[in-house]
Amino acid sequence: MKIIKNGMLVLEDGLVCGDLAVENGVIAAIAGSIAPAAGDEIIDASGMLVFPGFIDGHTHFDMDNGTTVTADDFVTGTRAALSGGTTVVIDFATQDRGDSLDNALKAWHKKADGRSSCHYAFHMAISDWNEHTKAELPNMFAAGISSFKLYLAYDNLRLPDESVYEIIREMKRLGGVVGVHCENGDLVNAGIKRQKAEGRLTPAAHPAARPPVVEAEAVKRLLAISQLTDCTVNIVHLSSKAGLAEVRRARQAGQRVFVETCPHYLLLTDECYRLPGFESAKFVCSPPIRDEQSRQAIEEALLNGEIDTVSTDHCSYTLAQKALGKEDFSKIPNGLPGVEHRPALIFSHYVATGLMSAARMSSLLSTNSARQFGLYPQKGALRVGSDADIVLWNPNKKQVITAQAQLQNTDNTPYEGAILTGGVERVLLMGETVVSDGKVIKEREGRYVSRHPVEV
Ligand code: URP
Ligand code: ZN
Ligand code: ZN
Repeated sequence: MKIIKNGMLVLEDGLVCGDLAVENGVIAAIAGSIAPAAGDEIIDASGMLVFPGFIDGHTHFDMDNGTTVTADDFVTGTRAALSGGTTVVIDFATQDRGDSLDNALKAWHKKADGRSSCHYAFHMAISDWNEHTKAELPNMFAAGISSFKLYLAYDNLRLPDESVYEIIREMKRLGGVVGVHCENGDLVNAGIKRQKAEGRLTPAAHPAARPPVVEAEAVKRLLAISQLTDCTVNIVHLSSKAGLAEVRRARQAGQRVFVETCPHYLLLTDECYRLPGFESAKFVCSPPIRDEQSRQAIEEALLNGEIDTVSTDHCSYTLAQKALGKEDFSKIPNGLPGVEHRPALIFSHYVATGLMSAARMSSLLSTNSARQFGLYPQKGALRVGSDADIVLWNPNKKQVITAQAQLQNTDNTPYEGAILTGGVERVLLMGETVVSDGKVIKEREGRYVSRHPVEV
């Protein structure tokens, strides 16, 4: 048995100073004090916060966007995740148009199996809705997939409202949750066309082509569909005050909706698109990073309980890949790295400053995702019987984010030079120490996590 002693345990209902015992990969006991028996290993957690392993419910590893493949694959992405305290990633297996969900799932297993350093699961992104796809859904649930992703933008992925409606209805029946990329694809295309016609070809044209109203319209439309189907949907990467207003309106009318945001919408502003030369390209992601008003609104929503989950939308590219759009902003691959630094960014900005409790951080970065995506109580909480995926967090550790020092397989980070308070000392995966002194010491120990249906 291993006993983690004298830590500040971050339990679902608050912090408790005590001990936690691990046996056979699961949490065997939690108590004020656990007496060790001969042969037990003691892990001293004095001065540490002990969190359940963090869950990043939104990553894109080894993803071909049609022009180029993301810089992080499952080897590099999950290693980076683990070093930052994330013990489960839920990546997006994506159906190619004309192909099956089954082939997408096989392809994603091939990318991840035996190569991942943290645990992994897959959402299934549906890009081709037809009778065959519909008939495949029960097999997806049998294979442990209980969440699905739909896009309202990106021409190779987006679905018409009728398909979105039908899929969400099916999910209600089968116990799946649908996450949706909310931008109006037609308006995005029109916005890009207009920027180009007016000769604006630099990264600064990216946010201009996709203003907040483009997100807000899609959020509103999705919420109408969700209302019609009486099914709770998940709005992924909410970025704008206008989009948030639509969520508030629906909630005030009694509708239930899950909302995810990402660190870049909380911590960065559209100033990043005003850098000289092509420097802003590294910040090109969709939805774009918004102005200070939106940043503040999303932050306020985070702090007053309106946001359910903070995930990263990790989708990394090198600067050379970003340069594919040197002459035309619309060809810059969309996405930012983030999976390594999410817990430290949120801890440093919100917990260390006293704006958020450690327990709330745990909900936002772990428990709520586990509940929403059918992982709870196996993952997402320190409970007797839960998997022993555990993070020992040093609240006083200082770290500086640099592209040079990061494990993410890219030469840039949107947080270059950020000085953070708090960081990982040790991570246990199924009870085994895989990160020690903040360094990954065991790789490729991650397992596929099969998920159960959820009630939405
Ligand atoms: O820019 C982004 N977010 N790229 C990844 C794909 C998506 O929209 O989630
Ligand atoms: Zn998206
Ligand atoms: Zn995404």
